[in-house]
Amino acid sequence: MRAFLVAIDGPAGSGKSSVARAVAEKLGIVNLDTGATYRAVALLSLRDGVAPDDGPALAALAGRVELDGAGVRVDGERVPGDALRTPEVAAAASRVSTHPELRRVLVERQRAAARSLGGAVMEGRDIGTVVLPDAALKVFLSASADERARRRAAQTNREAELDRIREAMRTRDKRDAEREASPLVPAPDAVVIDTTGLSLEEVVERVVGLAAAAR
Ligand code: C5P
Repeated sequence: MRAFLVAIDGPAGSGKSSVARAVAEKLGIVNLDTGATYRAVALLSLRDGVAPDDGPALAALAGRVELDGAGVRVDGERVPGDALRTPEVAAAASRVSTHPELRRVLVERQRAAARSLGGAVMEGRDIGTVVLPDAALKVFLSASADERARRRAAQTNREAELDRIREAMRTRDKRDAEREASPLVPAPDAVVIDTTGLSLEEVVERVVGLAAAAR
């Protein structure tokens, strides 16, 4: 049987991760978070002092990263999620992900992870356009910049830093949308859902309904 693949793309704070996790659970398939692979390369580059503009060196770091349903491994060792979710790593991930050399390596690994499974919900920025162009269902989540910043602040208990979070997101989104290699755009056949004002449950229900129709 062909693997059932769902692609969920969207900008930071659009609710991708929460939606992808819940949808995967409801469908009984694995959730693959491709952002973690870019964050893992960013963490390695910060630790090893690799310059964020050294594409070939970053691609070599990417060769040490593997993706599965539980997150990422580097050199075979599981990387704790907390280490990947710091603001420093997020900012570095946004910069390193502009390099096509590194993207080529990570995209291969992401496809291998999806192929090894009976089905998966894969989330990221270029899943519907580049990584899994044949996905049975493609969803692109959006939300207003204010709402996305509010969600991220609440998620990370940093409500006092709302302005700083909004600004950091704006910088990351602009870079993701304007880069030449796999920019953040909805695939032509993606279902775009504006999640502003919708609860997590409402979005999950909508995506699960779309998945049932596509299966
Ligand atoms: O989704 P997350 O915030 O963890 O992603 C971190 C960064 O990795 C994003 O800001 C984006 O620049 C990059 N990314 C990407 N392509 C993906 C997933 C993430 O360029 N498929």
